[in-house]
Amino acid sequence: MLRAVPVKPDVYWVGSIDWNERNFHGYTTERGSTYNAYLILDEKITLIDTSKPGFEDELLERISDVIDPSTIDYIISNHVEMDHSGAIPSVLAKAPNATIITSDPKGAQGLKAHYGDDLPLMPVKTGDTLPIGKRTLTFVHTPMVHWPDNMVTYSPYDKILFSNDAFGQHFASSKHFDDEVGLPEVLAQAKKYYANIVMPYSRNVQKALLAVADLDIDIIAPAHGVIWRSHVDEIIANYQLWSSLEPDEYAIVVYDSMWHSTEAMALQIAEAFMECGIPMRLFDLKVNHISDIMTEVLSAKYIAVGSPTLNMTYMPTVAGFLCYMRGLAPKGRIGIPFGSYGWAPAGPNQVASVLEGCGFEMPFGTLTHQWTEDEDGLDELHKAIVEGLSSLH
Ligand code: FEO
Repeated sequence: MLRAVPVKPDVYWVGSIDWNERNFHGYTTERGSTYNAYLILDEKITLIDTSKPGFEDELLERISDVIDPSTIDYIISNHVEMDHSGAIPSVLAKAPNATIITSDPKGAQGLKAHYGDDLPLMPVKTGDTLPIGKRTLTFVHTPMVHWPDNMVTYSPYDKILFSNDAFGQHFASSKHFDDEVGLPEVLAQAKKYYANIVMPYSRNVQKALLAVADLDIDIIAPAHGVIWRSHVDEIIANYQLWSSLEPDEYAIVVYDSMWHSTEAMALQIAEAFMECGIPMRLFDLKVNHISDIMTEVLSAKYIAVGSPTLNMTYMPTVAGFLCYMRGLAPKGRIGIPFGSYGWAPAGPNQVASVLEGCGFEMPFGTLTHQWTEDEDGLDELHKAIVEGLSSLH
């Protein structure tokens, strides 16, 4: 028997746990994920969000732990994406009298597009309220956190913000609350989630933070990962920080190499950062996943990216990383393109072109070495980076 987990009196977590999810749209989820749904028992029985297709039975079994699913009056769909709406048809089949609450108009349009025009929809706007008994729920649209339809639901009675994707983590755990897992672990997962999913919408995140700033919140109940009940202030402060896109004085050096020449350059650049006292991490794209590197991009002011020339362009690993990073749209960084070549510097030039397209400043230009570089050449590279960094401060 699968159990519902009490969150507050008459409020339960009834979600599903995807222990074996390892790739979420190209993002490595080494700890799996959860698709959280919440059940409120009041005069009107209200389900907030559902689960991903394939997890319908788990959701319904957890709901059945506390009520007969046929008694559900409202299904609140905070977000159309299928990891949260995918089980709506199965829930509706069990609860044929339920009404679906969704954002007006994007949520209604999205749900119709996915599940048909004859859904029993009640679209709501920001500020609309839904009395369900002793509780009256309110809704706030949070467009582009993460799709145009997103909204959050607030229960003033419980002081719970049901935040959907915002404040989530791809993190499957036998524990359901932040204080049961430990803040460093949860924050690390929340940061990876922010960097790989939410970062391009940072401006919208800031608007959403303003929109909920006056709410009295005891608990943030996201649609992925553990529930924030002891560290609400910390996760909100981190979202304020991350959405500012303000980097730290921190560097990453990311590269691939064929015959170790670009790698030798990467190591010299890394040494130069260390000599200047700037924290740094180095990532060989052969052995590091781009989604883990993106977590570091969220904090890094200096982003050095190296590729040799291969077939008159850059290496596919480097192209993949740059394509992914450009889509996630970090701002205000310093780019340092570099790489070795045999007879044409097409690889490093291509890297430079993408970094420039990201809007990064590039005060070091494009650093290239033909064939392999001797020790003097590498020393010159090292010196150029150290001097360049000194002149920036
Ligand atoms: Fe977790 Fe945008 O869906």
